[in-house]
Amino acid sequence: MARSDELAELLADCYDDPGLFHEAILGRSPLHKKQEAIARSVQTTPITVVPAAHAVGKSWVAATIALHWITTRPGAKIVTTSVSNNQLVNVLWSAIKTAHRGAKIKLPGRTSEGSSIPQRLDLGPDWFAVGWSAKRSESFAGLHGEDVLVIVDEASGVDQAIFDAIESLGYTRLLVLGNPIRATGHFRTLYDQAVAGTPGYACHHLTAFDSPYAHLTDDEVRANGLPFGLTTKTWIDRVRVLFGEASLYWRTRVQALFPDEDHDQLIPSEWIDRAYLAKRAPGNSTRYLSIDISKGTGRDRTVLIVADDFGVLEVVAANTISLTEAANIVARASLKWGVAHDNIVYDAGGWAGSDFHRYLEAVGIVSATPYHGSAKGGHRFKNRRARSAWKLRRRLDPDRAVLIAPAPNPTGSVFPEISRQQLDKPPATSHVQPAFSIPPAVTGAHWSDLREELAELKYSHMESKIELEAKSDLMTRLGRSPDLADAMIMLASLWSD
Ligand SMILES: Nc1ncnc2c1ncn2[C@@H]1O[C@H](COP(=O)(O)OP(=O)(O)OP(=O)(O)O)[C@@H](O)[C@H]1O
Ligand SMILES: [Mg+2]
Repeated sequence: MARSDELAELLADCYDDPGLFHEAILGRSPLHKKQEAIARSVQTTPITVVPAAHAVGKSWVAATIALHWITTRPGAKIVTTSVSNNQLVNVLWSAIKTAHRGAKIKLPGRTSEGSSIPQRLDLGPDWFAVGWSAKRSESFAGLHGEDVLVIVDEASGVDQAIFDAIESLGYTRLLVLGNPIRATGHFRTLYDQAVAGTPGYACHHLTAFDSPYAHLTDDEVRANGLPFGLTTKTWIDRVRVLFGEASLYWRTRVQALFPDEDHDQLIPSEWIDRAYLAKRAPGNSTRYLSIDISKGTGRDRTVLIVADDFGVLEVVAANTISLTEAANIVARASLKWGVAHDNIVYDAGGWAGSDFHRYLEAVGIVSATPYHGSAKGGHRFKNRRARSAWKLRRRLDPDRAVLIAPAPNPTGSVFPEISRQQLDKPPATSHVQPAFSIPPAVTGAHWSDLREELAELKYSHMESKIELEAKSDLMTRLGRSPDLADAMIMLASLWSD
């Protein structure tokens, strides 16, 4: 039999068997169980919804599904999209092209070169797969036919306008995959319909525990020569330590469950109350002072907080403090507590911030640290405010393990975090960090406001970085500016990561 006949026969056998196609034709590493179930579902069910954990192989199986569909159905069409061009080209289409190129049996069709949009795989006139950006809904218009498959990757971030355009396509099959990171949106609606048992819908959850490596550490994956990339026990354990099993991150990235709300409480109320009741640990350490400045006329308060590694030492808050008085209070408090001038931080982004250094200079403080909450936050945080708030959260975590600092730490903080590699084997010297105390004798009448403001701080992981809820939303909920919490966050900006 000629090779093309053999291929035609094999493709006919694969028509409704994507698993066979995957192994016999593509020759890729075997699909794991849930990937198989998703691929089968696309054969039998019009709409397949896949809320999935982080790195469990959803984009990878989508590539197999696309190649199987297009190759076994002459005249078929596929439209794919994802949250961004980068995701579309470098994840989904990179997987499609790699699998097409690397197939054990040479597949028909030509893939487009480079990273321009649309990405294409052409098999003949009116027989193609195309990857469109999720930014332009016009691109999705006017595709009809018998075997139209639509694949939406990273579906939580895809706009309603794109889904509206997709719904008007008259597709044969729809496959929607992604981290279920948003409480609302079309992905959520499709999911709700699927779990309500609507005919024509199927839902396949892919949790982190569905990864074949969920019980293996990174080291074990490497030692066994397994292909790297799927979620491991190391990653799951890390999420447990960093965010906790009650967190939104755990719910969406590990359990693959949709959240009820888009944000999570940054500091659990129980942690805040523990700090209030905690006895201050013995010892002295570097002291820090933060000042959030208000106009001294309206409702907003000027807040000064002095603290060290073990807790808060002084709180001053009032809405009647002028800039001159504020600088005087800083000078007095820094003298009283022995705060080095570069451990004084002030809000340089606020209304008076750009001027306040002059008032500080007038009282002899020339090396105070200006704070801009909107400044860069590094690779894990959207901005400095989020990064600093995260440090505060970590310091108030009653269960956080730390290393006993071997020697005085030049950065000031005595509590460096355990690194990822060390999580597998906690070092013998690790212990739970001493409580951070925010005692009644210090907070006085300000406690109830401080408690409320800290408990109202919310964060999310919408994109790859941790971000705080917009301050305007927080202010709307509180009915005031969170000046006390802001001063605490600013204080934490001086602590090492
Ligand atoms: N069955 C499999 N066998 C071997 N490697 C796999 C398998 N499935 C996926 N991978 C690899 O695992 C990694 C993660 O896969 P993929 O990007 O598809 O996951 P994802 O769930 O889409 O991740 P993300 O949450 O980042 O979107 C990739 O490097 C991929 O090559
Ligand atoms: Mg993916």
